[in-house]
Amino acid sequence: MFRRVRQVYLDVNATTPVAAAVQRRMAEVLDKYPGNPSAAYRLGREAATQIAQARAEVAAAINASPQEVVFTSGASEGNNHVLRMIAAHAPASRRRLVTTAIEHSSVHAVAEELAEQGLSVTWLPVDRHGRVRVEDLAAVLDDTVCLVSCMLANNELGTINPVRALAALAHERGIAFHADCVQALGKIAVDVHELGVDYATFSAHKVFGPKGVGVLYVREGAPLSTFISGGQQENGRRAGTESTHNIVGCGAAFARVEELLAKAPIVAARRAALLGTLRGAMPQLIENSPSDGVVPNTLNLRFPGIRNADLLAFLDLHGVSVSAGSACSAQGGKPSHVLTGIGMTEAQAQESLRLSLSSDTSDSDIAYVADLVGRFVRGEAPAISLVSPGQIDAAFIDDERNFMLDVRLGVERRFMKGMPNSHEIPFLDFGRWLDRLPRARNIVVVCSTGVDASIVAYALKSRGFANVGLLVGGLWAWRAAHGALYRARAGSKVTVVS
Ligand SMILES: Cc1ncc(COP(=O)(O)O)c(C=O)c1O
Repeated sequence: MFRRVRQVYLDVNATTPVAAAVQRRMAEVLDKYPGNPSAAYRLGREAATQIAQARAEVAAAINASPQEVVFTSGASEGNNHVLRMIAAHAPASRRRLVTTAIEHSSVHAVAEELAEQGLSVTWLPVDRHGRVRVEDLAAVLDDTVCLVSCMLANNELGTINPVRALAALAHERGIAFHADCVQALGKIAVDVHELGVDYATFSAHKVFGPKGVGVLYVREGAPLSTFISGGQQENGRRAGTESTHNIVGCGAAFARVEELLAKAPIVAARRAALLGTLRGAMPQLIENSPSDGVVPNTLNLRFPGIRNADLLAFLDLHGVSVSAGSACSAQGGKPSHVLTGIGMTEAQAQESLRLSLSSDTSDSDIAYVADLVGRFVRGEAPAISLVSPGQIDAAFIDDERNFMLDVRLGVERRFMKGMPNSHEIPFLDFGRWLDRLPRARNIVVVCSTGVDASIVAYALKSRGFANVGLLVGGLWAWRAAHGALYRARAGSKVTVVS
């Protein structure tokens, strides 16, 4: 089974654990405020009061007024809604959206969809750290633009954009401005009135609040169409019985923003220490994040010559969580659009990792991570072979010396048949069945995209298996390379290791 290893969480930009004070408030609501907030009797009114308090807490944290705060299921919903709404109501003379190449996918993907539907989309260039230049926005604005959408802080690089100046420029031309502020909150001061934006989005789970709840700030007077019809919740704009405990958790998390900001200098010092010790372990390291104009906790680094999936898997094996892209894209197998957006080649992007810290990251955590990276860089990590999809042809599959170990999750297996002659083992529980695996054969670990397989491959290596490889790009890549073989034999002679 798994050894208990030290855990070092360096993926704060993906999500944060719920703070104890927030958990207490949520538990209190679940326990004491069961009423439907829309109901006219006391239980309902009490629940509604809890929501009103949360709205006031959110408003205070971002310097908005409570009526400018709309609770959503998260920032993705808010981002989607603002872009779609503005596009849907734009007059025929203003059918152009201006956004950047480094937005979160909940903006990026919607902009691409809208472009397919006929909206004209201008993608602003960014510098090599992902920063938008005010003069580049000025150069593309005219009276055909309906919305400018630009994030305040980038999730992968931490780069801060000059949103105040960008919004002012848009307003000079009567153009609405939306800023995704998810990664800025709790790291730098976010004052929506000072920024001068019309719409801003936030997410509770990035600031030690619960998942599944967020905030759309809508400046008083800015248009907002209904998200969901069928009820009077959120001032008739987003129907559906409120998730009272989540909303209260969101308010409690926003109430801690000042506390988080007070700790920002500590976080920045830890970030500098981490960078310094990692440089000691690998002097040729390249900073993708800028050294100033960056949120204090985010460090995106390129490790030249090292495949990020391998280093990620090695760190994971030792209890260290880092990211090779945004949380949402880590499974996708494609390099991050943010990194390619700042001009990196796919190969360079696949050498990059994001480490995002909190004030809980200790000096000894930093020393531990730097030591692991040093061991990996010096080649002291157990070597696994990388097997390309092209190599695994029918002869390879039928060769008795090879043992294809399929570690996909059950749900993934339902979507795609396994490789012929493969052996299925549960990813989450593979440690239980290690004694059933043939140590004398070449074990090739296969997952959907090549990410999970790295973790299992390193685990096998560290448990003394001599010949271990992993299928680069996973089953998706193998199917693309061997379409005919897949159609003829996929799913045949598959056995379950048990
Ligand atoms: C910059 C940014 N915007 C939006 C989101 C989406 O937030 P949510 O998970 O609340 O939908 C994220 C989360 O990764 C993010 O980092």
